[in-house]
Amino acid sequence: MKSVILIGFMGSGKSTVGSRLAKRLGYKFIDTDCAIEDVTGLTVERIFSKYGVKRFRGEEALLVTKLAGKDNLVISTGGGLVLSEENVRLLTTNGVFVSLRATADTIMKRVRNKRTRPLLAKGNLRETVTSLLEQRKEAYGIAELTIDVDQLTPEQIVDIIYKYLK
Ligand code: S3P
Repeated sequence: MKSVILIGFMGSGKSTVGSRLAKRLGYKFIDTDCAIEDVTGLTVERIFSKYGVKRFRGEEALLVTKLAGKDNLVISTGGGLVLSEENVRLLTTNGVFVSLRATADTIMKRVRNKRTRPLLAKGNLRETVTSLLEQRKEAYGIAELTIDVDQLTPEQIVDIIYKYLK
């Protein structure tokens, strides 16, 4: 079966939902941020601070070339991975994109973990979140299923995706 690719903004719940969905489907779970940390031996924060965002996007692109075309994976993507059309093109060949959509208020309550989110570490959090959300609307709009997650538990979201796939 095609892999399921969870996309959406930081704090939308991709990792939590992804690992539970993978269990339910009996698929392997991949979190792209964790995979990049494993491969490079560096935290996401360290990659950003030492080498910059371009290097991180390069690591994402490299990882995507390895995952593209594979079956039976649930992939939780870092929030910026689908900003690359090439990443989307490669993953589309054998993947179903599902977008988890959250409002700025929900996101702000959840993104306290700065370790994996250096893009949110500086400046006013609400302004940064609001402006990035607006910039990325189109990128997240490529999904064939979009779920508004604000009022839902991870289990409810898993259920929706599971039923959609069956
Ligand atoms: C990013 C999101 C992060 C991580 C990196 C960049 C982004 O992942 O990949 O900090 O550009 O939105 P999560 O979406 O899992 O927080």
